[in-house]
Amino acid sequence: MRSPSHSKGHWQFGGRTMGHAMNRAARLVILIAATAGTVFLRSSAAPGELALSPIFGVGIPPDYRHWELVGVAHETGLDELRGIVGNAAAIEAYRAGTLPFPDGAILVKLAWKHVQSTEFEPAFVPGPATTVQVMVKDSKRYSSTGGWGFGRFIDGRPVDEAQHQTCFGCHAAGVKQHDFVFTRLAP
Ligand code: HEC
Repeated sequence: MRSPSHSKGHWQFGGRTMGHAMNRAARLVILIAATAGTVFLRSSAAPGELALSPIFGVGIPPDYRHWELVGVAHETGLDELRGIVGNAAAIEAYRAGTLPFPDGAILVKLAWKHVQSTEFEPAFVPGPATTVQVMVKDSKRYSSTGGWGFGRFIDGRPVDEAQHQTCFGCHAAGVKQHDFVFTRLAP
């Protein structure tokens, strides 16, 4: 990265030092990014409390309910319906078939009790929400777990450390060859 003193004095326009202006702009961007990061991390926490997963420090992304659908799943044992959504970086990688997923890709799995419709018996619909699970790609920060940070939340609160110790093992056992991600883009 260009050091501040190095960039100063480059791009001179009418006596104004563009390098200097760029520096200030860069600093502003960093400040905004840092602030946004704080909002992201604190989004689902009660006032004064952080809702980050143990081990990984992953939070619930504030805007995930607006993300695109990747696929759905049903697990009989837990009697759950699930929807998996991805942010723009994840969806782009899915469409392009890019593996591994790029840094910044985030996948969120929402789960609900599988309940019979009261309005049409043969149909099963989402009941109460059970968990929200998050995988965030950061290949440096999470290099020991395939580049993924994990978070599992019930009512917006992270579950305990023991549960977080199981995430990577199962994903690695099942889908190591698919960058540790089970869900494929539903046609
Ligand atoms: C025993 C195996 C197992 C464990 C343990 C597990 N997962 Fe998964 N996970 C799955 C399967 C299978 C799917 C595919 C969708 C489904 O069936 O719900 C999945 C899907 C996901 C997804 C959607 C992306 C993908 O890979 O399809 C996320 C996010 C996720 N899991 C997070 C977690 C987190 C966080 C933990 C730990 C708290 C965890 N998982 C533990 C098996 C597991």
